[in-house]
Amino acid sequence: MPRFRIGIIGCGSVSQIVHLPTLNQLNDLFEVTALCDVSHKVLAGVGDDWGIATRVADYEDLLALEMVDAVLIANPDVYHAEVTIAALRANKHVLVEKPMCLNLTENDAIIEAEKETGKIVQVGTMRRYAPAFIEACRIVQGLDEIRLARVHDLIGRNSLVIEPTSRVVPADDMPAALSGAMRQRSAEAIRGAIGAVPYALSTAYRMMLGLSTHDLSAMREMLGMPRRVLYASQHDGGRYQTAAFDYGDFICQFSTGVDNIPRFDTYLQVYGDNKVVRVDYDTPFVRNLPITLTVTETTDGANKQQTVTHPGWGDAFTEEWRAFHRSVATGEKPKSNPQDFRHDLVLFQDMIRLMSGAGG
Ligand SMILES: NC(=O)c1ccc[n+]([C@@H]2O[C@H](COP(=O)([O-])OP(=O)(O)OC[C@H]3O[C@@H](n4cnc5c(N)ncnc54)[C@H](O)[C@@H]3O)[C@@H](O)[C@H]2O)c1
Repeated sequence: MPRFRIGIIGCGSVSQIVHLPTLNQLNDLFEVTALCDVSHKVLAGVGDDWGIATRVADYEDLLALEMVDAVLIANPDVYHAEVTIAALRANKHVLVEKPMCLNLTENDAIIEAEKETGKIVQVGTMRRYAPAFIEACRIVQGLDEIRLARVHDLIGRNSLVIEPTSRVVPADDMPAALSGAMRQRSAEAIRGAIGAVPYALSTAYRMMLGLSTHDLSAMREMLGMPRRVLYASQHDGGRYQTAAFDYGDFICQFSTGVDNIPRFDTYLQVYGDNKVVRVDYDTPFVRNLPITLTVTETTDGANKQQTVTHPGWGDAFTEEWRAFHRSVATGEKPKSNPQDFRHDLVLFQDMIRLMSGAGG
C-alpha cells in the first residue's frame, strides 16, 4: 500500500482537532511531512505538538517541496481556489476543505486545472463518506416510491463544542492587514456569485457555503439533483433558512440555522409508503461520535419495526481520507469532486434568487 506524504496548508481548528489526529490514526496510509500557516504561533505550536519539522508561512514554498505528494487545503475558503489551482500545477493531489470555492468562475478554473494536470481533487464534504450514509443511499435507491424527504441542520455555534473539548493553538498573531484583505476578497468573490445583495443575503450565501454544502451535497447524492428550487427564505439576517426542492414526484424540505445550544440536530430523512430511512449526524469536532441509520417500516401494515444501526465505529473524516487514498492510488475520481461541487453553487444561487424575491 503506498504511503502518501501530506502537506497541510492552514493549520487552524479543523486541522488541529480532526485532520492531524485522523492522519495519525491512518499512519500506514499517510505521513504529514510539512505544515504551512501564515500564523507563526500556529506553525510553531502545531509543528511542536505533532513533531513536524518542515514549516513554511507561504503556501508556494510548501508546494515546491519534493517531500509532499498531496496537500490538505484547510486555510480560509477565500483562498481555496487559488491554492487548489497552484497545488495542481505543482503536481500535487488535493483534498480541499469545504467549500471548495466561492463562485462558479473559481469552480470552472479548478475544473480546468484538474483536467490539465490529471491530479485528484477531493472536496471535504466528509458526511458523504460515513458508512451509515452510504448504506442509507443504498436503501433509498431500493424504495418503490418516495413521497417526501427532509434535510435538517440546526446546530449550536461550533465554539460551544470546541472550547470545552479541545485545545486549539489560536492564530491570534495574524497581521490585521491580512484579515482586512481577506474580508475584502471574500466580499468581492461573493459579489461575483450573487451580485451586490443586501447583507442578509450575503450572510445566507456564506452559510450555504460553510454549512449547507454538507446537507445539500448529501441530498444530491441520495436523491439526485432536484428539478428546481420551489421556494427559499431566510430569517434573522440570513442565519435561519428554509427551502423546498422539487423532485417531481415529491418535495424535499430543507431547514437550517445556528443557535446557542451546544448540540447537533442534523439529519436526512426519506419517506416511502412502507419505509422511512433516516441518517443522524453529530458534531464533527468530537471525533468518532456515532452516525446512525434508522429504518422504520412495516411489512404487513399492522406492525411497525424500527432498527437503529451504527454501521462501523469510526469517523466520517477517517473514511474521507481512506477514499482520498484510494483515489490517489488508483486515479479514480472521488465522488465529491469539483464538477459535483458546482451543483451546490448552482442550487445556492437559485436559493438566493428566490430569497431576494426574484422568483424561480
Ligand atoms: N469538514 C468540516 O466539517 C469542517 C469543519 C470546520 C472547518 N472546515 C473548513 O476548513 C477550513 C478551515 O476552517 P477552520 O475552522 O480550521 O479555520 P481556522 O480559522 O480555525 O483556521 C484557519 C487557519 O488558516 C490560517 N491561514 C489564514 N490565511 C492563510 C493563508 N493565506 N495561508 C495559509 N494559512 C492561512 C490561519 O492562520 C489559521 O490557522 C474552512 O474552509 C472551513 O470551512 C470544515
